[in-house]
Amino acid sequence: PVIYVITPSKPGPTQKADLTRLASTLRQVPALHWIVIEDQPAPTALVAALLERSGMRNSYSHLAVQSEAVSAGPRYKTARGVEQRNLGIAHLRELVSAAAAAAAQLKRSPQRPGDQQGESETSAPEGVVYFADDDNTYDLRVFEEMRFTQHVSVWPVGIVGGLMYEGPVVDLATRRVVRWHVGWKKQRQFPIDMAGFAIHARNFINTPGELLSRSSPRGYLESHLLARFVRQLAQLEPKADLCSTILVWHTRTEAPDLSQEEAHPSDPLVEV
Ligand code: UGA
Ligand code: MN
Repeated sequence: PVIYVITPSKPGPTQKADLTRLASTLRQVPALHWIVIEDQPAPTALVAALLERSGMRNSYSHLAVQSEAVSAGPRYKTARGVEQRNLGIAHLRELVSAAAAAAAQLKRSPQRPGDQQGESETSAPEGVVYFADDDNTYDLRVFEEMRFTQHVSVWPVGIVGGLMYEGPVVDLATRRVVRWHVGWKKQRQFPIDMAGFAIHARNFINTPGELLSRSSPRGYLESHLLARFVRQLAQLEPKADLCSTILVWHTRTEAPDLSQEEAHPSDPLVEV
């Protein structure tokens, strides 16, 4: 299965550094399509050139949509990346449908030597969707953990929510998720960061429309999204050694100190 990675990206002084670091990770992952959606009216030349150089070859898409309301500072109230992820999901549906149609076409075409007989006629969309923000840190193993997601898979996230890690707690006898290790906004139905789950692509085909809402308060984007697909904790597929290994960290890029720019302006022709 292909992993579709959806990354909203905010313009600003650290955008190029953040995307450079993420590209260095993602280009090492086989069968991965990276969908980058800038928070801009149109895709920028800076990100276009970065993606071209990234070594992702043709397996990326570069889109843009401007946020309705930009919420600033480290303790912002409204959710970020909503419009960008919704556009990414719309694009993902097109990619997955096109891939399924191509696979169906291949099966209808005359038998080639070595082909298996008796495969099913319908090509179910294959693939898994992961929302990877540009400032987190990803162990390469997290992608192979999520690749064989059947419905919705989950794992812990390091340094987030006021804890060393937040995550699902798995009952070792049943190997099912039974509760959460979480402190911040623990009343949420699915108290998990965006970096801690992956969803099978078919869910996005079967559930049309915009799946993220501007009106979700901060911290509820993930919970509201998962509630569309999951009713009970037992449906969740625990990954990363039954949720005991940290393979992703919610690192955040510090806002840079630009206090000397006014007195000593940097050359605007130098792309940073
Ligand atoms: C946490 C979660 O990790 C995010 O997935 C979630 O969207 C966010 O909270 C939220 O509740 O809104 P945090 O580190 O606080 O993340 O948020 P950022 O990393 O600043 O933003 C998430 C993503 O949206 C990033 O990829 C960022 O580049 C992008 N973004 C941010 C925009 O596209 N526009 C903005 O105005 C701000
Ligand atoms: Mn972040």
